[in-house]
Amino acid sequence: MKRVAILISGGGSNMLALVRDMTQAHYAQPVLVASNDPAAGGLAKAAALGVPTASVDHRPHGKDRAAFEAALAEKIDATRPDILCLAGFMRILTPGFIRRYEGRMLNIHPSLLPKYPGLHTHALALAAGDAEAGCTVHEVTAELDAGPILGQARVPVLPGDTEDSLAARVLTMEHQLYPAVLRRFVTGDRTPVSLP
Ligand code: GAR
Repeated sequence: MKRVAILISGGGSNMLALVRDMTQAHYAQPVLVASNDPAAGGLAKAAALGVPTASVDHRPHGKDRAAFEAALAEKIDATRPDILCLAGFMRILTPGFIRRYEGRMLNIHPSLLPKYPGLHTHALALAAGDAEAGCTVHEVTAELDAGPILGQARVPVLPGDTEDSLAARVLTMEHQLYPAVLRRFVTGDRTPVSLP
């Protein structure tokens, strides 16, 4: 069974969707949930589900991303993951870290890439008057939010939507999309998933 490590920075709702799906359908094993923020809410949720957790605070490392990543990679590699899932992990990664997990690192991003890489995706979709929004799971490559797309889910933008209401609608789809992509990815299938 493939071993999966998950990196988070916050509440970890995507992490929970992944862990629940893996453990219910027995296609992969969650071996680690790690965060750059020791106070990330998702860590306690993972621990409550019996998943090993770790945190490496990025702040003491200041601008030294490589030192932070070396400490993080040490925790990750100790659990020997086959696949690394970024799930709301909000640190930019250096090319060195990306190379280390090349071909086995996934990310979920709250827009229909290639539209709106980076931050504030929902505000940008609303400001542009887009009729639809969504989320993307992609392979992580050196260019930010630009790796091969492994799945997308679409939602309508509704009249009166705010950033929060749109984010909530997209997040619901993130929880369906990420497990659906992981199920395929563990078998070596990179055919993009399309939801709904
Ligand atoms: C999710 O919406 C995810 O797509 C986004 O952060 C949120 C994390 O929520 N990720 C990014 O913006 C990555 N650049 P969660 O902690 O509840 O999964």
